[in-house]
Order: sequence, then C-alpha cells, then structure tokens
Amino acid sequence: MQKITIAIDGYSSTGKSTVAKQLAKYLGYVYVDSGAMYRAITLFAMEQGFISDDHFDVKGLISNLELVQISFKLNKETHVADVYLNGINVEKRIRTLEVSNFVSQVAAISEVRSMLVKQQQQMGEERGVVMDGRDIGTVVFPKAELKIFMIASAEKRAQRRYKELIERGDNVDYSEVLHNIQERDYIDTHRKDSPLIKADDAIEIDNSNLTLDEQFQNILQLTTQVLEGL
Ligand code: CDP
Repeated sequence: MQKITIAIDGYSSTGKSTVAKQLAKYLGYVYVDSGAMYRAITLFAMEQGFISDDHFDVKGLISNLELVQISFKLNKETHVADVYLNGINVEKRIRTLEVSNFVSQVAAISEVRSMLVKQQQQMGEERGVVMDGRDIGTVVFPKAELKIFMIASAEKRAQRRYKELIERGDNVDYSEVLHNIQERDYIDTHRKDSPLIKADDAIEIDNSNLTLDEQFQNILQLTTQVLEGL
C-alpha cells in the first residue's frame, strides 16, 4: 500500500506525541518527535553555558551549532526512538521543566530552525512518517497528505503535563507547569520564523474531553479515509 506523510501540530501538551506514536505503531510508520530536537539543542545551550536564568548568548549558540549532532535510536524497551545529543542518550534530560522553560526561546532562532527543518525533511523523504511539532504541516511537510492540528484548554494540558512530570519523579508545582505552557504558547505563536498556526488544510481536533482511545480512533479514521482515497 502507498505510504503517506502525517503531520501533527498543535500546542504544548495536547497529546500530539501520544497519538503520533500510536498511529506510527499501528501503520508500521516511523515516528519523529521534532520537539525532542529543539529540546536537545536547548540542553546543549544550557550545558555549554550559552543560556541560563539571567543570560542568553544567542550569537554564541549560533556559532557553535555545527558542534550539535542530533540522532534518534530505537529503544528496545519502549519501542520508540530515543534522542541522542552528540552520541549520548538525552531522552530523560530533555523532558525536564528547566529545558521546557528555555526551549521556546531557542526554537525562535532562525538558524536553529533551518538546521532542524532540513534534517526533519530528510527523515521524511521516504514517506511512511508521522511527525509531530509546531510547523510540520506548514513548513516541514506542506504537502503532507494528512494534517492534524490539536488543541485543548491550557488547564487540561497543564494537568496532563504535571501528572507526567510527577510520575517521572520530578519535583514541580502545578502552577509552574501551567505558567510554562502559557508562556510557550505565547512565544510559539508570536515568533517571526514559522509561528505555530493551523495550516489551511489541517483538521482541528479539540481533545479536552476525549479519551486517548477516542482520539486515536478519530485520527485513525481520518488516516484510513486518506489512504482509501489515494
Ligand atoms: O511536548 P511539548 O508539547 O511540551 O513540546 P515539544 O513538542 O517537546 O516542543 C518543545 C518546544 O519546541 C515547543 O514549545 C516549541 O517552542 C519548539 N518546537 C518548535 O518550535 N517546532 C517544532 N516543530 C517542534 C517544537
């Protein structure tokens, strides 16, 4: 059967990656978490001292981008690819609230975006890919056969992310998580380069009140319609 490209965009913590993973597994497609790549560069910037609570050396980061190598390798336990920064597995470290607090500033830098968009486009060359992010349907794969745009209330999203972080053993406050989500929503939708917007041909799904299974069935049905129409 012919393979397609599926782009899933939307706000922070809307469950994009959960449904993208389910879909990729079901279809036998490759799943790519584009946000993990922005998070890995943010971790690099923090570790190299380009970014901290009181300073952000954008020029320094840009001139050192050539030292950043991002790759994905399948984790045999989770059956999902983990992200590697310069050969080191950083999957756990990129998910902290600290990285979340800086990532949208890093993702607003055009040089960072053009480097990652190129890599993402290469990963999708063969089709048979489900990629989630903020600009997948608008910039990375504007010709994707199926584009989904996920939304949910900020409170619902913060509750989900808070639960995730607590379950990982991170010591965070709900109010901090909500604040981070609202701040990232603002930066991601207002940046000059590839802001988060719904592509004209994307299908919007509000999952505030959908169960994971309802959401999956919904998107699977849309996928089947596209595949049958090829
Ligand atoms: O999982 P969560 O929704 O918290 O975010 P993510 O997908 O890991 O993305 C983290 C951040 O990376 C976003 O808030 C954006 O600032 C940035 N990002 C982006 O600009 N473009 C993408 N395609 C993916 C993520």
